[in-house]
Formats: sequence, C-alpha cells, structure tokens
Amino acid sequence: MEKKNIDWSNLGFGYIVTDERYVANFKDGAWDEGCMTTDANIVMSECAGVLQYAQTCFEGLKAYTTVDGRIVTFRPDLNAARMKDSCVRLEMPVFPEDRFIEAVDKVVKANAGYVPPYGSGATLYLRPYMFGISPVIGVKPAEEYQFRLFATPVGPYFKGGAKPITITVSDYDRAAPHGTGHIKAGLNYAMSLYPIQEAHRNGFAENMYLDAATRTYVEETGGANFLFVTKDNTVVIPKSDSILPSITRRSLVYVAEHYLGLKVEERKVAFTEVKDFAECGLCGTAAVISPVGRIHDHGTYIDFPSGMDEMGPVITKLRETLTGIQMGTIEAPEGWIREIK
Ligand code: PLP
Ligand code: COI
Repeated sequence: MEKKNIDWSNLGFGYIVTDERYVANFKDGAWDEGCMTTDANIVMSECAGVLQYAQTCFEGLKAYTTVDGRIVTFRPDLNAARMKDSCVRLEMPVFPEDRFIEAVDKVVKANAGYVPPYGSGATLYLRPYMFGISPVIGVKPAEEYQFRLFATPVGPYFKGGAKPITITVSDYDRAAPHGTGHIKAGLNYAMSLYPIQEAHRNGFAENMYLDAATRTYVEETGGANFLFVTKDNTVVIPKSDSILPSITRRSLVYVAEHYLGLKVEERKVAFTEVKDFAECGLCGTAAVISPVGRIHDHGTYIDFPSGMDEMGPVITKLRETLTGIQMGTIEAPEGWIREIK
C-alpha cells in the first residue's frame, strides 16, 4: 500500500484519523462477528454506562516497519491478556484473546499506508478499547458493550524524543491499594488529568506517584513504569500491586538479563533510595524508555549522574536493544514479533 503523505519525522504523540477501524458489539450475552468500518464516530445513548459510570478500559500497542520493510506488531498477545484482566475487574465481558489479535492484524493491514517507514522515528499506535454502551442509571454494569480498535501514527510521547526530562513527586495518588491501578481502566487516567496539568503548569513533564498508603515507595507515572539503574549497573524495577504491569518493562527485564547480561531486581523501591541511583527511565509503549534527568521533590531536586543532555549508558543499551528487536535489526525472542501479512 502506498504510504500517506505525512511528515513522519516531525510527528508528535497526537491523534490523526486513519482509514479503517474495527468494531464488535456485545449484545444478549454474546459478541457479534465484528467488522471493519470507515466511520470514526460513535452514536450511543445519553445514559450509556461509559458516560455515566466510566465503565471503560483500553490498551496500547504499536506496529513497526522493520529494516527489511515488513510490518510487525510487538507482543500483541500480552495486550490481549491484560485487556482480559481489565475487563474482569470492571465487570465487562472479555473480548476473546484470539479475536483481539486478529483485530490488530486487520486494522494494521487496512491502514498500512499509515505505518511510518523504518528509521523515521515514528510508529503506528494501536488503541483497542471497550466500553459499556447500553443505558445504566442505577450503579451497575451495562448489558451491552462495544469493542473498537483504531490506529494513529505517532512520534515520541515526550517532546524532544529521547532527551532527559524533569518530573515531579506528586501529592496526589494515582491508585488506591486494592483498587484499579493494576488494570488499564479509563478512570485511572481521568483522575490523573488534574495532577498532570498541574505538573505541566509547574514546568514538569510527568508526575512520580508514591504508594497511596504510606507515601514512601515509588509506584509509577501517569503513563509509564519506572526503571532505575544502580551505580554498579543493576537494573531495579519497583514492585507494587497497584501499578500497571507494563509489557515494555517486562520485555526490558528480559532484555537486561538475557541480551545484556545485567542483574535485575524487582522489589519495593523506597523514595529515599532514589537519590542513590545512577540512571532513571520511564518505560511504556508510548514512552518506549524515556530518560529522567531530574526529579523535583517539594522544592529540592534529585539530579541523576546521567544528566540532562543525554540518556545514561545502560538505558541507552536497553533502548537500542528493545527497538532493535522491534525493528528487526536484532533477533527477537520466540513469539515476540508478529508479522502482518
Ligand atoms: N503504566 C501506565 C499507567 C500506563 O498507562 C502504561 C501504558 O500502557 C504503562 C505503564 C506502560 O505499559 P506498556 O509497556 O504495556 O505500554
Ligand atoms: C501507552 O503507552 O500505550 C499508554 O497507554 C500510555 C498513555 C499514557 C498514552
């Protein structure tokens, strides 16, 4: 398919409408067969469950053009599995995992002209989502649901791409213990909008959330997990039941151990030890692995030795290896790459 006339290298992380998206409806206890549509709009009841009680969850993954011109997705099976977990927690019907992967394939194929070329720095972002569409007025789950999946070409999530950012410790909580922090519920993002705007107003790129119960342990940001590197090159990953199990982070742990021979510790990380790390990064599908140079904490600063000019050596290697796997320049572990034919 001929590529669209887009200035790929200057794309930000925004929405550009593409040609076709996938839609399936759940009614009378079953999913219909689903279809592709050119209609980017949704008409629903004023009383739809999603509009009244935010019954919605979503996923995010990307399609890439490899060095040899193939179009691939990265571990879509893990997004399908995580969406299942989100649906169960939100009392929504599960969209079958094999059909999720099939929908991803169809949407990428139908929008192949929007998959940015190899080397452009851009990718095709895929957004599967589901919501309660039937009317609900008493607080309860909807009876009918819609699953949709659209694609939009994107550049870097943080302005400046791979340049280190400054973040701030938030006084707000992202997720309660035993709440919904571990799933990809829309409500987690709605509650982060005020804090993120406040962070931006104060000149910071993101918030670092601490655990809501004790405010002593590092959780994550509004849209990415943390990854730290110690001065002796051990990768440290905060462990918590209320953070999203990032697919990028799980992949980076494997890359660190099996490709780079690094030691990895997944454990609770006290905020007081953050000042002793050599490098800090934010990892996620949108963020890839974005370096953090500085953390603001109530008027004081933690400055990582890697500085504000470039990312540190371990994060650089992790990023190069992961993106190399995604773009086909480095051999992928079995099952990580799905070619769209
Ligand atoms: N944490 C949050 C809150 C997110 O929204 C995301 C994005 O999906 C991530 C972490 C990273 O997860 P993944 O690597 O699966 O995209
Ligand atoms: C993603 O990385 O896919 C996300 O969903 C994060 C979001 C903040 C864009």
